Amino acid sequence: MTDLSTTYLGLRLRTPLIASASPLTGRLDTLGELEDAGASAVVLPSLFEEEVEADAWRLHDLLEGGANSFAEAAGFFPDFEFGDTGPQGHIKLLCTAKDMLTIPVIASVNGVTPGGWTRYAEQLADAGADAIELNLYAVAADSHRSGVRVEEDYLKVIELVRGRIDVPLAVKLSPFFSATAHFARRAAAAGADALVLFNRFYQPDLDLDTRTVRPRIELSQPAELRLPLRWLAIIRSQMPSVGLAATTGVHSGFDAAKALLAGADAVMMASVLLRHGPRYLSRIEAELSAWLTQQDYQTVAQARGSVSRLGAPDPAGYERANYLRTLASYRTPGS
Ligand SMILES: Cc1cc2nc3c(=O)[nH]c(=O)nc-3n(C[C@H](O)[C@H](O)[C@H](O)COP(=O)(O)O)c2cc1C
Repeated sequence: MTDLSTTYLGLRLRTPLIASASPLTGRLDTLGELEDAGASAVVLPSLFEEEVEADAWRLHDLLEGGANSFAEAAGFFPDFEFGDTGPQGHIKLLCTAKDMLTIPVIASVNGVTPGGWTRYAEQLADAGADAIELNLYAVAADSHRSGVRVEEDYLKVIELVRGRIDVPLAVKLSPFFSATAHFARRAAAAGADALVLFNRFYQPDLDLDTRTVRPRIELSQPAELRLPLRWLAIIRSQMPSVGLAATTGVHSGFDAAKALLAGADAVMMASVLLRHGPRYLSRIEAELSAWLTQQDYQTVAQARGSVSRLGAPDPAGYERANYLRTLASYRTPGS
């Protein structure tokens, strides 16, 4: 049997299979189920700066507004403990998860301001997170802000957080960069120990009846793995020592195997576990283990990057040749 252990973010993991941030990692019961099903680590849902700031302001308004009529106002207090406002809810979840689980717990931050990114990353690291993942999820919608500015701001955040925490640091990227490989290199130089490829942007829909924007979260499909696969291979072939985790479109052990061959150290899943439940993870591990064993891999390290190593010395030319070949391979129905 293949030894499935791997190292990601300096953490020795039993297998490469990690539960990525989702509602399943935000609850203690499902966190326990994920560990029981074999998750080798979990990433908690992101602490969003605007969410915790809004909580703090709601509490402030509540206390100020109720100052002159406390007895009456007390009856309107919402159903939360004071300790759960601000970042406290996340910190409490992290501490309880750390007490309850034996696997590493990675905390995720999504900030808005430089102070927010660093403050919350530091608080979560101090509270015992085994690593911090920065969720760089922002839609660059300001037509006055160039791509260069957007990238510089991201790099500043990585540098600032790196300077404030001692635990390993991962950065979850979106696929929307003009020069993804170049940004990956700069993110690592700024202090990212690992890159998580890629975040999935949720596309709102328009409701024609009400003419309103309708938020839509659709779970991923396995075909979406192809985008991270390409970039895992490109980045791994040029940056052999950066940590890489795959996210988006991993729905089976075979998908996980593809991510490893492309160069991932770890493979993260959310949609497949939301769709089938946390226990499905054990089936994915069994598939991965069976495939690697059948292919005579002794270790995950042997498999990791074995396809990206076959990549051409000129990655851009290689991609262009593949593009031409793919277009030429299309057959119209009936031809
Ligand atoms: C309902 C839901 C909530 C999510 N919340 C977070 C989050 O808080 N932080 C984060 O970085 N990613 C979040 N994600 C993204 C997932 O961690 C994952 O990167 C993405 O869904 C792609 O992986 P998948 O194809 O396995 O679903 C969320 C995904 C879903 C479906």
